Amino acid sequence: MNIRTVGVVGCGLMGSGIAEVTARAGYTTLVREMNDELLARGRQRIETSMGTAVERGKLPAAERDAALARLTGTTRLEEFAACDLVIEAATENPDIKKRTFAELDQICPPHAILASNTSSIPIINMATSTRRPDKVLGMHFMNPVPVMRLIEYVRTLTTSDATLETAREFGESLGKRIIVSKDRGGFIVNFLLIPYLCESVRMYEQGFASKEDIDVGMMLGTSYPMGPFTLLDYVGLDTTLYIADILFDEFKESRFAAPTLLRQMVAAGYLGRKTGRGFYNYRAGELPPR
Ligand code: 3HC
Repeated sequence: MNIRTVGVVGCGLMGSGIAEVTARAGYTTLVREMNDELLARGRQRIETSMGTAVERGKLPAAERDAALARLTGTTRLEEFAACDLVIEAATENPDIKKRTFAELDQICPPHAILASNTSSIPIINMATSTRRPDKVLGMHFMNPVPVMRLIEYVRTLTTSDATLETAREFGESLGKRIIVSKDRGGFIVNFLLIPYLCESVRMYEQGFASKEDIDVGMMLGTSYPMGPFTLLDYVGLDTTLYIADILFDEFKESRFAAPTLLRQMVAAGYLGRKTGRGFYNYRAGELPPR
């Protein structure tokens, strides 16, 4: 199957990144948000990111202009009627996602593949909200989407070989490496990443080492681009807690149990970079070690 037109549901941090990479790869891209203000904010995020890519010499200015011309925002899901592939990147709410998939199933042509960028909700629940469970899969992009080279695909019990193959060709056409996981909490990456982040918080909470030393330890000791606290602030403490709670609920294993400090920081509104304070207090000029 030939994918030409891609729909993206949601133009937040992940949706805008996904729309950016699909438009840059030559796909006519439609992105849906709930209202014009959110759409304008998403478009601005995409323009800024593409501007950075141009400045860094990763994207010729003419290609940026062509990519922006391929990108259209809408508030109406009905406009996805011509999409060959839809990637849902809306709020992590199981009921909203199921409803969105049922609507997409009504709107999109029968050949269209429907994917979700969820990091935590079983894909099978969305697949069975449609009459095309063979054409539904997970496409878990990493943040920041334009820079990270991976997409983690999630194959459910019902995803067909043909769907996976088409999706694989599409993902590779975005310049990404594809890995395939079965449909269980955390898939591959978060199953390993979340316990590591939780363990780092526990180590700090117990007073075993400073957050700076733990960050420097993992950066210089293992060549990770960011230490765990810098990454927690980057991903968002609320997002990390949300995924940890889902994993704990599914597996009932202590490695997924969210540390008290993480829970309390989320309650305090210390969510990371997005609120100006997480493990590091950016508002007060505190920066993670580099
Ligand atoms: N488009 C294209 N390229 C861009 C770009 C853009 N908008 N913005 C930056 N780049 C390029 C830069 O030119 C640079 O390329 P180079 O290495 O060839 O010079 C590269 O991307 C890195 O950019 P920067 O120099 O601005 O930034 P840093 O070197 O400080 O790296 C980072 C920033 C990429 C965020 C890096 O610190 C990193 O990889 N951190 C870890 C991120 C991570 O782990 N993400 C996954 C989180 S988990 C997740 O998403 C799953 C979810 O479910 C929780």
